[in-house]
Amino acid sequence: MKQSLLDKIASKDARIGIVGLGYVGLPLMLRFAEVGYKVLGFDIDTSKVDALMAGRSYIEHISADSIASARQQGFEATTDFSRAGEADTLILCVPTPLNKYREPDLSYVLNTIDALVPYLRKGHLVSLESTTYPGTTDEELLPRIESRGFKVGEDVFLVFSPEREDPGNPNFTTRTIPKVCGGVTPACLETGVALYSAVIDKVVPVSSTRAAEMTKLLENIHRAVNIGLVNEMKIVADKMNIDIFEVIRAAATKPFGFVPYYPGPGLGGHCIPIDPFYLTWKAREYGLHTRFIELAGEVNSGMPDWVVGKVAAALNTRKKSINGSKVLVLGIAYKKNVDDMRESPSVFLMEKLRDLGAEVAYSDPHVPVFPKMREHHFDLSSVALTAESLASYDCVLLATDHDRFDYELIKQNAKLIVDSRGRYQQPFDHLVKA
Ligand SMILES: NC(=O)c1ccc[n+]([C@@H]2O[C@H](COP(=O)([O-])OP(=O)(O)OC[C@H]3O[C@@H](n4cnc5c(N)ncnc54)[C@H](O)[C@@H]3O)[C@@H](O)[C@H]2O)c1
Repeated sequence: MKQSLLDKIASKDARIGIVGLGYVGLPLMLRFAEVGYKVLGFDIDTSKVDALMAGRSYIEHISADSIASARQQGFEATTDFSRAGEADTLILCVPTPLNKYREPDLSYVLNTIDALVPYLRKGHLVSLESTTYPGTTDEELLPRIESRGFKVGEDVFLVFSPEREDPGNPNFTTRTIPKVCGGVTPACLETGVALYSAVIDKVVPVSSTRAAEMTKLLENIHRAVNIGLVNEMKIVADKMNIDIFEVIRAAATKPFGFVPYYPGPGLGGHCIPIDPFYLTWKAREYGLHTRFIELAGEVNSGMPDWVVGKVAAALNTRKKSINGSKVLVLGIAYKKNVDDMRESPSVFLMEKLRDLGAEVAYSDPHVPVFPKMREHHFDLSSVALTAESLASYDCVLLATDHDRFDYELIKQNAKLIVDSRGRYQQPFDHLVKA
């Protein structure tokens, strides 16, 4: 089994199945197609499948042209999981959010594997890419696969290989970001390394699926904790009347032992605010508390309130209150130069300002209309930034510093600017750093 799978991968005859065609699955599909593999994509969202089959993209930084050329290369998308047997690999890229108790919600992963298991066959390679706690692959996927009578490592191969992506960063591509891979058995690892080495420059094998799962969590916890640290430093520096961004720029000139992280109005995105709590939950099973994770979460989730306090203080200097003021929030994606709004702190800011009585508007060149979100609703479209529109607001809150904003225009025309991103380095009269 193993050798025939390895041969198919080497000759590019292997058909690559990717389950979940979102921010992770779609770029991976494009990379396999680019190298010459035929890809069969699965998703439960009919509108996405229809868009892809028509050669359209639904992610801003993925072009329709690239989808169309993948289609020419044999890429197909489907909602029909009974076609899983047509693929040689099944790479799972489905969401792993938290539930309302901030505990891991594995339902997407489990629904996916349950939908695939009836169609598994000998020779399949299953790879889980979704970020999750150590033990998910061997505690949840392995028994479900073996329930069909397959022996993992002989009949079916199972690996965990976490996705690493930095959407909007032009310096890295799927191909050039090294990929970690851990297998349930040495044969599983061998097939996983062969698969990813076909499309990725550097594959980093680790000894187990648990080591691979923990690697991804360490990476994201490292970011969450360091961002929590600089956010706390920002609050302290602000009270001392020191510009934290100037301090970070200066510290970053140290050529060793310092890694710059930048404070902001809170944490956003599908990964950093969520993934660390997968470990927190699992650690409890071992009687352990993840204190750094909890502390960073506390600091980071308090940042929108701190920024709102800055807006209130700034308006106060103009003898105004938040209640009744017109506030324009600049940037509602969770980070610069992307259109992804998941967990965006800008949305929390908008809600808090609205709840305090502000008339809230937003401008974001990447998000023309406020999208339908499960827990948030604003019936708003992006305000075009002109001298007149800027001057009509009591306060402009810079929440996400997209490069496409005209910062000089904003500076010249806004009455009051609260900058939570350190974009304006030099002070001026109507600027408040937050
Ligand atoms: N977005 C990132 O930058 C990033 C980076 C690294 C890791 N990750 C991890 O990758 C995983 C996927 O994240 P994403 O950002 O691609 O999510 P996403 O929401 O963009 O995409 C997930 C896709 O899976 C589909 N889906 C949901 N349930 C399904 C099911 N049962 N069967 C088939 N398809 C299903 C959804 O319709 C959606 O298209 C998560 O675990 C995330 O933590 C994301």
